Order: sequence, then structure tokens, then C-alpha cells
Amino acid sequence: MFISFEGIDGVGKSTQLESLQEFLISRGHRVLRTLEPGGTELGQEIRHLLLHRKGDVAPRAEALLYAADRAHHVATKIRPALERGEIVLTDRYFDSSVAYQGAARDLDVNQVRDISLWAVDNLVPDLTILLDLPAQDAIQRRSRTGTEPDRLEREKVEFFERARGMYLELAKEQRFLVIDANQSVDQIQAAIRNRLVELGIS
Ligand code: TYD
Repeated sequence: MFISFEGIDGVGKSTQLESLQEFLISRGHRVLRTLEPGGTELGQEIRHLLLHRKGDVAPRAEALLYAADRAHHVATKIRPALERGEIVLTDRYFDSSVAYQGAARDLDVNQVRDISLWAVDNLVPDLTILLDLPAQDAIQRRSRTGTEPDRLEREKVEFFERARGMYLELAKEQRFLVIDANQSVDQIQAAIRNRLVELGIS
């Protein structure tokens, strides 16, 4: 079972991932919790280039760097874990590229998706959990954490609105569960666990 978590910055993905991981482990499942960009050692270096290096990154270069991170992540970490029978939880996957590089950066959405699918040799999640919040609210939440914004987080509200719009568009696909991230942490977690039960995981 391969589960991705998606949403714009500040919707609370990490809290939910952590809680779900603990729950699944307590039920005796073997779980790999991972993230993009930066789920591998090579990925950590790519993450640094993307988010913390000084200077601009051309949009197509940005898309390819995320795809390179993902290709290595899937080949060396995600596929092997799935083959071992583990449940894989990832904080972001290729829908992030479609929403951020495809829609927010205004590259071609279908081309970005095709590059990503090629990078991962067509590995699509069984379930994608989209935590949804208006961009303004997400930015406000993020600013409360007091951490220094990275290169992507310095983008304007319109950038995140475009990403959010694309996510909601993508979420018409069957594999998505869309959750209003304005609910309490416990309510959101309950919605996620309910869907897992429906998929036969309890
Ligand atoms: P993330 O690790 O979620 O940020 P944080 O550690 O601050 O919670 O993701 C880093 C940034 O990269 C985030 O702004 C979203 C962006 N991103 C893309 O633009 N495209 C992608 O394909 C991925 C995976 C992330």
C-alpha cells in the first residue's frame, strides 16, 4: 500500500503523517515514512539545491530536479519497501510537481506529469490524501511557526492559490481523499483512518 500526502505549504501534513505512522505501527504494520524532496541522501543534496541555495532556478530545471529526486527516491527506497510488504507513507509525491511546477510555475501541466511518471516508471499511489486550505490561511499558519521561509515559501499568495486550484482539479481522480484542513488534528486523523478501513487496513 502506497499512500501520498499532498497540499500546499502550511496545511499540516507532517502532523498527520506522524500520527498515522504511530497508529499503523501500533496495529502491527511495518511502515516506511518518507518525504520529497530529500527522502534519500542524494535527495537531501537536491533538496538543498532547490530550497536553500542562493539564486534563481529556471522553472524547467526546477521541475527536472524534483523529478530526479523522485526517480532516485522511488528506485532506491519506495519500491524496495513496497516489495518487502511495507506500507509507504510519503510527504509529497508527483502531484506536488503537477501543482507547483505545472500550475503555479505555469509550465505545461501534462508535460510535468509525464516527466514525473517517466521518472517513477509509472508508480502511482494507491491513496492520495489532500489536505485542503485556502492559500491565505495556510500562509498565516506557516508564519506562526516562526521558521525562516525557503525559496518556494517566499512565493506570493497567488502562487499557492494556483497550486491549490490544481490540487482540487487533480482530486477528481478516484485515488484522492480530500480533507478540509480547517478541522481539528483529531478530526482529520479520523477521516484518514476511516478511509484506510474502507481500503482494508485497520
Ligand atoms: P516540503 O518538504 O513539504 O516543505 P517543508 O519542509 O517546508 O514542510 O516541500 C518543500 C517545498 O518543495 C514545498 O514548498 C513544495 C515544493 N515542491 C515542489 O514545488 N514540487 C515538488 O515536486 C515537491 C515534491 C515539492
